[in-house]
Amino acid sequence: MQIERYDGNREALRPLFALADDSPMQISSYIDRGEVLVARDGGRIVGHVQVIETGEGGVFELKSLAVRPARQSEGLGRALVAAAITRCRERGGRRLIVSTATADIGNLRFYQRQGFRMCRIVQDAFGPSTGYPEGLAVNGIPLRDQVVFERDLGAD
Ligand SMILES: CC(C)(COP(=O)(O)OP(=O)(O)OC[C@H]1O[C@@H](n2cnc3c(N)ncnc32)[C@H](O)[C@@H]1OP(=O)(O)O)[C@@H](O)C(=O)NCCC(=O)NCCS
Repeated sequence: MQIERYDGNREALRPLFALADDSPMQISSYIDRGEVLVARDGGRIVGHVQVIETGEGGVFELKSLAVRPARQSEGLGRALVAAAITRCRERGGRRLIVSTATADIGNLRFYQRQGFRMCRIVQDAFGPSTGYPEGLAVNGIPLRDQVVFERDLGAD
């Protein structure tokens, strides 16, 4: 397995982006932004991570991350986050932010295991007005609010 920069057509990665975001409208708004790294296994792309600039100096955002379902829980997600952090440091990054749904308990665990700390909650970030179908739930919890995590890139 190797992780490398992806310079191909981003639309080819849309199924991976769709694993991380239930809104095709939102995905279209950012799929072409920033840099994408992919994990390849024997030539096949098995995961991706996208990092974008935030407009604030030294602060990057991990915008999209996914591993193919058949390859989850093998450490690929952790390796993709580590590669994104290395890349941000190379670009002078001081802080990396990422946001996810408060309902997604698995992601809350995953990001904290990668050294991220919660910094704020955005209520009603997910709903019809932002491109998410009514009535979606994760872990039996309505998909509604968003949590923003941050990671100090000076820390290990
Ligand atoms: C989140 C995701 C990228 C994690 O990738 P992964 O390759 O399965 O994760 P890893 O195998 O590297 O696991 C790293 C750690 O996170 C934990 N973890 C990963 N997914 C988890 C989950 N859904 N629930 C609880 N813990 C989880 C692992 O148990 C492991 O824990 P450890 O540090 O105690 O060993 C992957 O589950 C995924 O693609 N999910 C769908 C898309 C998604 O939700 N993306 C994030 C949107 S913000």
